[in-house]
Amino acid sequence: MSTIDYSEKIPNNVDLANDRTLQRALEHWQPRFLEWWKELGPNDFANSDVYLRTAVGVDAQGWAHYGTVKMPDYRWGIFLADPIADRTIGFGDSYGQPVWQQVPGEFRSQFRRLIVTQGDTEPASVEQQHKLGHSCPSLYDLRNLFQINVEEGRHLWAMVYILHAYFGRDGREEAEELLARHSGDVDKPRILGTFNEPIEDWLSFFCFCYFTDRDGKFQLKSLAESSFDPLARTCRFMLTEEAHHMFVGETGLGRIVRRTLEVMKEIGSDDPEAIRRQGAVDLPLLQRYLNFWFSSSLDLFGSEVSSNAATTFANGIKGRPDETTQYQDHVCADSSFEIEVPDGKGGVMKDKSPMRNAMNEVLRDAYIRDCEIGLKRWNMQIKRGGYKFELKLPSSRFRRAIGAWANIPTDLDGRPIDREEHDRRIPGWLPSASDRGHVKSLMRRVVEPGKMAAWIAPPERGVNNLPVDYEYVRLA
Ligand SMILES: [Fe+2]
Ligand SMILES: [Fe+2]
Repeated sequence: MSTIDYSEKIPNNVDLANDRTLQRALEHWQPRFLEWWKELGPNDFANSDVYLRTAVGVDAQGWAHYGTVKMPDYRWGIFLADPIADRTIGFGDSYGQPVWQQVPGEFRSQFRRLIVTQGDTEPASVEQQHKLGHSCPSLYDLRNLFQINVEEGRHLWAMVYILHAYFGRDGREEAEELLARHSGDVDKPRILGTFNEPIEDWLSFFCFCYFTDRDGKFQLKSLAESSFDPLARTCRFMLTEEAHHMFVGETGLGRIVRRTLEVMKEIGSDDPEAIRRQGAVDLPLLQRYLNFWFSSSLDLFGSEVSSNAATTFANGIKGRPDETTQYQDHVCADSSFEIEVPDGKGGVMKDKSPMRNAMNEVLRDAYIRDCEIGLKRWNMQIKRGGYKFELKLPSSRFRRAIGAWANIPTDLDGRPIDREEHDRRIPGWLPSASDRGHVKSLMRRVVEPGKMAAWIAPPERGVNNLPVDYEYVRLA
């Protein structure tokens, strides 16, 4: 059982004290990380006391400690899930052989690229949310934002550890670059497009947690299957923290739905304008935000058919989420996968791809099924409230910028339509200027303990068995 050494400068369960060179290199990176946090982490809240959880072990039970801390004093550390004895490679050409404790030379650059891309999203999301704290709908939500921010910071540590420990000088340089690129920076932007858009309102934040961070969860799940064992163990522990991020997204959107239903009942109308006059969010507006965030998150999985995806699977670098439990065939050498592609005549046709080349699509399908869960819950709420409205995920062909459907105009059901019709109908499908203006007008900060902004219902319970009206953040 691994324990975490908190007397160290960098809390860790990787026996850092016995690797002086690595320890020194990471202690050299640490002050830069802190500088980055102070500059681009939550704006103006450095002196506030925040009720946060901190990882203190990697046990399924009781891995976190809760307490009040100022964010710059948060103990960011390096934690790997415990090794699985005699673990063997779970997929690809080397299926069944022992897992690797070092990166095989021939796969080094592929691993590095994947780790850097994953690592880059972690600080990027903190930067995107830099100013969000100023318009929090409650102290409870403010605390959840900060919890996610510090944990994304820890995820950066997780990736930087792997780079430093296993990639030598290249790895150290990449770790520097992770702090040098910035979200939205013209000269040095973050690697993935979506992570360069600022998140300026809380509806977008909840959508980000629900859709975009969920992409992160699926990438982590597939890296947790990796044959490179230290990476697999790092990602397994990151997933423990990730569950809370999904929770914040799902319950945040669910609380907005609940509040909207209350308002609809109070005023006896589902007229969007009347709902907006009450300072709430109408369901059609919410639907347009879901359309926007879902479609942009789908692109993060890459093209339907990809030789790169085939290689990373064949080489045992990146598996499928829940590879062991969800699939029978772990080699996929001669199976195929059916995909839908444009037929070039304005329609849809079925095509077959070798299974290995379709791994991005397999991952995207699993992601879409996971995205459905929240919608089912919200629709139940709406139904129980006695309303007919149904929230829906658009087709995965809608508004894609990457893959077979890139720049092919379709309606929400994924039916190809002509460009003119598409452009005419798009204001009904995506957030309009007036939608965004309304959401912006709602963003006023509420910081009295237990109080909520008018557009969101209170959570069902507080954090770690504390009451909802606990003072989760004591503002400086
Ligand atoms: Fe993360
Ligand atoms: Fe996350």
